[in-house]
Amino acid sequence: MSHSKTIQTDKTNIVDSACLEVWPKTTKTYSLLISNQSRDSHYLRIHGLKPNLLHIIGNCRKVRLLDIGCGNGWLLDETKPHEGYACDIVEQHDINPKWKFQIQDARDLSYQDDFFDITVASLVLIWFKELGAAVEQMHRVTKPGGKAVIVIVHPYFYRVGNPDNNGNFIISKNLSKPFKIQDLKIGGIAGPLTYYYRPFVDYLNICINTGFRIRQVFDWFVNMEDYVQNTKNGMDSSIVRTDKVPMYSFIECEKE
Ligand SMILES: C[S@@+](CC[C@H](N)C(=O)[O-])C[C@H]1O[C@@H](n2cnc3c(N)ncnc32)[C@H](O)[C@@H]1O
Repeated sequence: MSHSKTIQTDKTNIVDSACLEVWPKTTKTYSLLISNQSRDSHYLRIHGLKPNLLHIIGNCRKVRLLDIGCGNGWLLDETKPHEGYACDIVEQHDINPKWKFQIQDARDLSYQDDFFDITVASLVLIWFKELGAAVEQMHRVTKPGGKAVIVIVHPYFYRVGNPDNNGNFIISKNLSKPFKIQDLKIGGIAGPLTYYYRPFVDYLNICINTGFRIRQVFDWFVNMEDYVQNTKNGMDSSIVRTDKVPMYSFIECEKE
């Protein structure tokens, strides 16, 4: 079935301003956190996020790519697309000037329809309520035949429970319906932020209902042996990690 219609997002649905308030105060700490090699957040990105995201995006030599919620713009530097666009709700001063950066909200993009070969939202869709509006915008600005890539911290890991001393993961929340966590700090230091939990299938169903075809979904788990070996000397994190639940999930969609 073809879904190549233009979707008009109802912008009056955008009511949640928490991300607009908290991210400007957090961007700097977040950037420092992920580049600081003495934090385990750095390990998780280098071993989990980055290789899998670059693999799913593929070769960008001939493509026009948009990185939504780009942070410091690392993804464009790595993928080196033919034309690189980036946006974020927060001004980003460190982005390479060869990439076209604009302040834009993922839920209300101003790019034209069917414009990008690839759109990416890496660790972004978990920070606001209007997931549907953001996925509709990704669909609208992606070309027919183009792809959208979504990465999230897996919702069954993210603050829904805690590892115990035996390495088991003890779930402490009701995972059947969405909820919100306030005062969340990434890596224990970047924040406080507001995080929106929803069941993992909600992400998939929203992509399907928006008109995307899901091409692949996969999870990345921490390899505890490697983690312990690589982080034993002075990794400054008080967070106990586990390999019992997935850490990152990657969703590749195609606009038909
Ligand atoms: C966890 S960081 C991820 C940054 C980058 N994508 C990465 O993978 O490292 C989340 C980013 O999303 C941005 N963000 C949060 N809400 C947003 C929204 N509604 N529209 C666009 N960007 C948003 C934040 O400012 C922040 O830069």
